[in-house]
Amino acid sequence: MSQSLNAPQHFVNQVIGQQSGSLNKLMPVKAQGYGIAPVNIALSKYWGKRDTVLNLPMNGSVSISLPGLGTETTITLQPTTQNSPPPIDQIKLNGQALKPNNPFCVRLSAFLDLFRQKNHAFYINTHNTVPTAAGLASSASGYAALVLALNDLFQWQLSTQKLSLLARLGSGSASRSLYSGFALWHKGEQADGLDSYAEPIDTQWPELCVGLVKVNVQQKPVSSTTGMQNTVKTCDLYQAWPQQAKKDMQSILNAIEQQDFEQLGQTAEHNALSMHATMMATWPPIVYWQPESVAAMHTVWQLRQQGVAVYFTMDAGPNLKLLFLKTEKPAIEQAFGDISIIQPFKGQS
Ligand code: DP6
Repeated sequence: MSQSLNAPQHFVNQVIGQQSGSLNKLMPVKAQGYGIAPVNIALSKYWGKRDTVLNLPMNGSVSISLPGLGTETTITLQPTTQNSPPPIDQIKLNGQALKPNNPFCVRLSAFLDLFRQKNHAFYINTHNTVPTAAGLASSASGYAALVLALNDLFQWQLSTQKLSLLARLGSGSASRSLYSGFALWHKGEQADGLDSYAEPIDTQWPELCVGLVKVNVQQKPVSSTTGMQNTVKTCDLYQAWPQQAKKDMQSILNAIEQQDFEQLGQTAEHNALSMHATMMATWPPIVYWQPESVAAMHTVWQLRQQGVAVYFTMDAGPNLKLLFLKTEKPAIEQAFGDISIIQPFKGQS
């Protein structure tokens, strides 16, 4: 599908209701905007775009958000003068000022271009409670928090569904980070991308646990954006992916509805390994796994042989995310030692 160059701007204008001649939606109403959003782990994955300009996925996906892990962001507008040079945003990540040519800033500023008036520069202060680019989906919480902060700064008062559309433009998986609990990101059918947003799934699963097995928290060698683009371009196996992803997503939705943990775990693990199979069959190959990742997989399989119901999922990085029910917590802690365990629905009823 081809898109004109200003397609993202047109998309943003449609979402925020910015029309020529109407009230200017890009004038800050407050001195500072604030947003906070959780990371999310996909149980059936998004891998591959059918439109790289509007960030439209080849398939829908389902995730679970992790409370307490995520991004907190504030945004203010820098004072400008009539003849000021092109705007340079100031971006602080985890207390450290970043150089404008840092890839993180380049991507963020390109996204902010969609929300700035000529000569306006932004000051962004953002804190992650997960290691950046470690395969723990910090871009998802990052763009979701940023969109919430923009909504606050400009006082658009958009619905969460619309905020999900905007977050998607920054990073696909960010569309799901507007919600706590389970979320479903619809693939959408329309060429304008207005029907590809995430919605919450209204089901609690208090016993469900997610364990984070940290293998490596360094910057990943291939970004998900580049990785999935190369996969779509060069991987013959990828042709089978959209169909499997659709089937897996349905299976995950059923498992959530029925609270069928075996089905949830099996489908999530199979889906993740299938996605990684397409990565490996890409050229040049994309292998996010480290030897410790494979060792952890074997530990999971051994535990299952011993009757412990535990499954894993993995994203674009070497770390494993374990899925299990609370009853298995002692066995998991014993087998993995240094593991962070999160109960996404703890405290909610
Ligand atoms: C493997 O959302 O980071 O984590 O849209 O290019 O920013 P962009 O990609 P991103 O990809 C996430 C891929 C994944 C699977 C998932 O979260 O569904």
